[in-house]
Amino acid sequence: MSSPKTPKDKLSRRGFLRGVAVGGIGSVAAHEAIAQEFISVGSLDDWEASLNGGGTTTPPVTTDPETPTDTNPPVTDGPTFPESDVAIRRDIYTLPEGGQAIASLRRGIAAMKQRPASDPTSWWFQANVHAGSASPQMAPCQHSNRYFLSWHRMYLYFFERILRAASGDPSLTLPYWDYSIPGRAALPASVRLPADQNQNPLYWQNRNPFFNGGGALPPHIVETERTLRAASFDGQIGFNRALESQPHNGVHVQIGGSMAGVATAGQDPIFWMHHCNVDRQWNRWVSRGGSRRNPNDIDFMTQRYNFYNESGTLVSILGEDILETPRLGYRYDDDPAQPVGFDVAAAQIEAPQSFQTVTRTLANGETVTEVISSQPVAMAAMVEAPAPVRASVTLAESSGGIRLGGGKTRVALQSGFPRPTRIIQRMVASQPVGNVEGVPQTFQTVTESVVEPAPEMFRTEAVGQDAAPVLLQLQEFAFDGSPAVFNIFVNLPDTAAPDPRGPYYAAYFAPFAQNQTEEPESYDISELLNRQLDAGLWDGGEIGVQFIAIDADGQVKSVISDPVSIGQVRILRS
Ligand code: C2O
Repeated sequence: MSSPKTPKDKLSRRGFLRGVAVGGIGSVAAHEAIAQEFISVGSLDDWEASLNGGGTTTPPVTTDPETPTDTNPPVTDGPTFPESDVAIRRDIYTLPEGGQAIASLRRGIAAMKQRPASDPTSWWFQANVHAGSASPQMAPCQHSNRYFLSWHRMYLYFFERILRAASGDPSLTLPYWDYSIPGRAALPASVRLPADQNQNPLYWQNRNPFFNGGGALPPHIVETERTLRAASFDGQIGFNRALESQPHNGVHVQIGGSMAGVATAGQDPIFWMHHCNVDRQWNRWVSRGGSRRNPNDIDFMTQRYNFYNESGTLVSILGEDILETPRLGYRYDDDPAQPVGFDVAAAQIEAPQSFQTVTRTLANGETVTEVISSQPVAMAAMVEAPAPVRASVTLAESSGGIRLGGGKTRVALQSGFPRPTRIIQRMVASQPVGNVEGVPQTFQTVTESVVEPAPEMFRTEAVGQDAAPVLLQLQEFAFDGSPAVFNIFVNLPDTAAPDPRGPYYAAYFAPFAQNQTEEPESYDISELLNRQLDAGLWDGGEIGVQFIAIDADGQVKSVISDPVSIGQVRILRS
C-alpha cells in the first residue's frame, strides 16, 4: 500500500521517529537501527543534562525527514505493516459495492464469525470484549470517563489487525461512517443490502428496521459540530465526554437492536464504522487548535489496557502509545492538514525514548508482553499538570427523581440557593377606586417581600476556557434496555412545538452506558439561557425541563418499552 508523501509526513517526523523506535520492539534489527539514528543526531548526555535543569531543551533532530519507517506500536509481537506507509481509513460511502475493500471486509467478518467465541480472534470474542465478558485480563469498554476515546481507539486498532489478518488482504482498513455529512445519515447500502447475514456479513438483522430499510438518522442526532467546539479534552463537558454523548450515544440508541446495548453493540458490523468515525473526530478536534490539546498527565499516559492481537497473543498498550494515529499505522482519508495529535510542547521536551520489553505469565498461564517506555511521560507531567477542578454552584434542582416514559415528561427545578429578596410596599384601596359620590376612599399600606427573579445568575459572560458555564446535569440513572433517545428542552412553553432547531432545545439524552457509572451526564446550556433571557423567552424564574422520547425518525414516541429513571436533574455553574 502506498500513498503520496505530503507535507504532513514531514511535520509528523517526530511521530514517525517514535514509531520507528517503538517498532523496534518486535525486530532487533530495526531497534538497533533507530538507536544508531538517535546517537548520530545529538548527544544524549547533553540532552540528559538539560533535563536535570541545565542547558536548553533541544530535542535531537533528524537530518532526513523522508526516511523511516516501520509504524508498529510498541506492544506488538512483530511487524504489521510490511510497507513503510501508513494505511488509510476511508469513508464507507466512497467504497464501491463490488470493490476490493467491501469484499475484504465481508470476507474477514465471515472468517472471524466461523471461529469459536473462545478464540480471541473470533467475531464473538471481540464483541464480548466490549461487553466486558471476554476475559478477566481485559477491562470492559470505558464509558463516562476520560478513557472513552483512548480505550476505543485501542480496541479498534487491535480489531482492525485481527480483521485484516482474517481477510487475507493486507490493505484492509476499517472504514468510517460519517452520518453528519448531508445525505449520508442513512446506513451505507453495503451494510444493508443484500439483507442476508450469510450472503452479506456486513448486514445485521438486529437493528431498528427503519434503518435497515434505508431510513436516515435525524439531523440533530448526528450533529457533531457542537462537540468539536469543546475547549478542553477532560471534564464533564470536555471533548471526550461530549463526543461520547453526541453523536456517539445517540447513534447507538437510534440504530437500536444490538447497537443499543453495551453488551451486544460489538456484534453489529456498523459498530466498527461508527466508532471509526468517533475516533476520526479526535484528530479533527485537536487540529482546531486554541486550547484544544490532548492530555499528557501521567495518569492518562500510563493508563494501560490489555488486548489480543491477530495472533491471539495478549498484549498491552498505554495511553501515550495511541495519541498519534500514524504510530498505530493509520490515518483518515481526510485528516486535517496539521499533524495529527501533534503536541508542540510535548515534542519540545521529548527525549529519546527507551523501551524495555517485559514478559509476565499470568495466573491462568497466559503470557502478557508489556513494553515499558522511559521518560517522556514523566517529563510531560512536569510541564503540564491536570487542570484543577473548579468548585461548582447549584443554581436550581429537582425536588426528586423522574421517570421517563413515552411522550413528554416535565420537571420543574427549584432554586438551590437563597435569591435576593425585595421589599415592596404598596397602597391598597379599601373601597372601589374612583369618585363614588358620598363614599370616602380609605387606603391601607401593604408590605410584601418578593423573591426577585435573578436572571443574571444564569448568565454566562465569558466564552471558551475562561467561562464558568451553566450546565444542565442529570444523574443517578437506572434503565434496562435503551428504549429511546430523549430530546431535552428547557422552558418549552406548552404551546410550542418540540423542535430541536428551536430556541428551547438543549441537547439529547441517549441512555447507553450511563447506568454503569456514578458519573453525571452534563450539557452546556449557557448559550441557550443567555439567548432565552435576551429574547425575553424566559424571565429567570422557575426552570422547566422537558424530556421528549423520540422515534427512529425523530418524531415524538408516545409509548416506550422500559422507562428510564433519573435520580436528579439540576442546573449548576461549574
Ligand atoms: Cu464502548 Cu460505542 O461504545
